[in-house]
Amino acid sequence: MRKKIVAGNWKMNNDLNQTIDLINELKELKNIKDVSVMIAPAYPFLKTSHDLLEDSPIEVVSQNVHQKSNGAYTGEVSIEMLQSIGVSTTLIGHSERRAYFNESDDVLLAKTEFALDNNFNIIFCFGEELSDRKSKKHFEIVKIQLDNTVMKIKKESWKNIILAYEPVWAIGTGETASPEQAQEMHEFIRNCVENTFDKSISEEVSILYGGSVKPSNANEIFNKKDVDGGLIGGASLSAKDFKLIIEANSSL
Ligand code: PGA
Repeated sequence: MRKKIVAGNWKMNNDLNQTIDLINELKELKNIKDVSVMIAPAYPFLKTSHDLLEDSPIEVVSQNVHQKSNGAYTGEVSIEMLQSIGVSTTLIGHSERRAYFNESDDVLLAKTEFALDNNFNIIFCFGEELSDRKSKKHFEIVKIQLDNTVMKIKKESWKNIILAYEPVWAIGTGETASPEQAQEMHEFIRNCVENTFDKSISEEVSILYGGSVKPSNANEIFNKKDVDGGLIGGASLSAKDFKLIIEANSSL
């Protein structure tokens, strides 16, 4: 059975007190059946967040990581540093990393390989831009993004990979892919994984949808056969909305 997951990407939001307050509200979350919940606070607050959630099933994950073990890389954070504070999962390839920090497929492949080789779990993000969808190239673009990165990963590492399809035109825009658009892309992605590897891997990998998921649309998106949960930006900054989104996945 595939894991159902709801992950909150807090991006560059929340100072220390806001981080603590939001976590304390999330800790009240009870009776969530069958859903893994993750949050990705900013780097300076990962340890505090992890400590606050010690007795909670909510996992604290990183928003990014560097592809080298250590050294003269000013401003970067390594896998080893994250592991030393109990973090074992990271996002890789978020569209904001690709767009604003020039993270190419080659860099993302290096990060992915390094993380997986060091027993880290990854949530690998990808998705087409609006112009790709308008020119009906969205399947082609997504396939290229996958072929250049996770499809090069060895089969044994796939148990540590979660995929997150996030159409760029839906991130932070209020515009969401329709449940049908999400389903057809998720099915396509699962088929790509099956064609490159095999059915056991494609059936086991959780594929999250991200892009303006809200309490009002979460249920119908998560209800689709190949959508295993969501990567939530804006709405994860409100404990009330995030809980409703988790409940929408848990009730299915
Ligand atoms: P959004 O962001 O929910 O605010 O659209 C999603 C994401 O960037 O992961």
